[in-house]
Amino acid sequence: MDLMEKLVSLCKRRGYIFPSSEIYGGLNGCWDYGPLGVELKRNIKDAWWQDMIARHDETDAPEGAPGPFGMVGLDCSILMNPTVWQASGHIGGFNDPMVDCRETRNRYRADQLVVYRLVPEGGESAPVASDELLFAAPGEIGKTDEATLLAPHRKRVESLRKKLGDVRLLAVPDALSDTNLRERTLAPGAKEPGSLTVPRAFNLMFKTHVGALEDNSSTAYLRPETAQGIFVNFKNVCDTARVRFPFGIGQIGKAFRNEINPRNFTFRSREFEQMEIEFFCRPEEAGEWYRYWRDRRYAWYVKLGLSTQRLHLREHDGDELAHYASACADVEYDFPFGVSELEGVANRTDFDLRQHMETSGKDLRYFEDQEPDADKRRFLPYVIEPSAGADRAALAFLCEAYCEDEVGGETRTVLRLHPRLAPIKVAVFPLVKKDGMPERALALYRELRSNFNAFYDEKGAIGRRYRRQDEAGTPFCVTVDGQTAEDGTVTLRERDSCEQRRVPAEAVAARLADELKSSPGVA
Ligand code: GAP
Repeated sequence: MDLMEKLVSLCKRRGYIFPSSEIYGGLNGCWDYGPLGVELKRNIKDAWWQDMIARHDETDAPEGAPGPFGMVGLDCSILMNPTVWQASGHIGGFNDPMVDCRETRNRYRADQLVVYRLVPEGGESAPVASDELLFAAPGEIGKTDEATLLAPHRKRVESLRKKLGDVRLLAVPDALSDTNLRERTLAPGAKEPGSLTVPRAFNLMFKTHVGALEDNSSTAYLRPETAQGIFVNFKNVCDTARVRFPFGIGQIGKAFRNEINPRNFTFRSREFEQMEIEFFCRPEEAGEWYRYWRDRRYAWYVKLGLSTQRLHLREHDGDELAHYASACADVEYDFPFGVSELEGVANRTDFDLRQHMETSGKDLRYFEDQEPDADKRRFLPYVIEPSAGADRAALAFLCEAYCEDEVGGETRTVLRLHPRLAPIKVAVFPLVKKDGMPERALALYRELRSNFNAFYDEKGAIGRRYRRQDEAGTPFCVTVDGQTAEDGTVTLRERDSCEQRRVPAEAVAARLADELKSSPGVA
């Protein structure tokens, strides 16, 4: 089993993540978070909200910031006036190119289907011959390794190798838009070439109807991003919140995209949660604020446990930038299925506010009454947008935390989650179910539960109970044993090192609070 299969199985076994509506066969691209998963995701969202918004001190500049700034939150509705999506460009432009395979009935994103040819050494510049067979495989040029690309066509490729000798794999750009090349392309799993359709634009927004009438006038969309709720409330916030400019508005909430190919567990889902900040600043200062947010958001993941070996900041090239962005960087994580985006940080210029100002006819310019220069008092702010996915963050933290190690000659599976993110902070056990141990353990459990998410378990061998908590990612276990009755001490076991220390029972709460505070990275 590879790491991803092991993780999916652990998530199911321990109650982290289940397929949505599983008893009916599930629904592609939708997932349910179980009792442990909901705590993990909530802890991620809470950490984000606390670190970015609630605990932000607007009278002081955080480390690396060009100056002090304000941060406030919003919680907007998922259904909005459809004109929002007209103005934002989503109705006209939020499309992915889609191709279908008529033979296998599979559907692909055209930009994620590599069409390639096999050429003998030295024959790279030869044009595609009229009888040459091309191959298509899901992947990304330059990102997907050769073995994965070849996998769906192994037999054909082997026989070609016998005929041609040593061959190289060459991508054939735009092959799917060319009828001749498409006719000669073999789709994954297809027996005959030519089964792929012309790429068609496919709008990713889910449509619904508001009210009793199902006609064009009642069409509404499930929001594909939380960002637009922030833009259309910009004036409301300015008029009411007395925030210190420059300032950011943050929002956590569900977003929906009818992804053509949901895949890689929760990584690409059709229903997911975003944690977005729109940071409004003066146009001339946008470059500085962009760098500040890009670096701060990268550091946030590191503080919560992602290793810098697996976490990368990738600045987009000019031709990769969306039309509204003047700079963009992706925070990428080395997932078992490849390096993929966790969060995007973009300088969106004044594109969105301008679009909404022009479409709504409302003046969305900011008025700074403290500005001495009268010409600079009213202006349309630029926006820096750090846009993260809560589900992708949860998946990255789970991948990073998953570990198998040897303890006492036995292999154990352990989730080394940051204590701040761990669903259960402490588990309390009586060593055995007699001699007053359960009563003492329950009393301690109840005391701890008033401050921490605690768990009580008295069933089974103590070693098995420890292993179960290791798999759940619980950083501390406390065991009440025979000695507790004599001197009031208990065993405090640490998940990662398996180290056990005796501590007074009444000191456990303070000790835990201390451990949670002093864990590396608690912001
Ligand atoms: N407002 C900008 C925006 O929405 P995006 O790059 O399309 O930008 C931002 O999305 C983040 O939302 C991504 O970095 C990712 O973490 C998350 N996200 C986007 N599509 C997703 C999907 N289909 N499944 C899970 N998360 C997704």
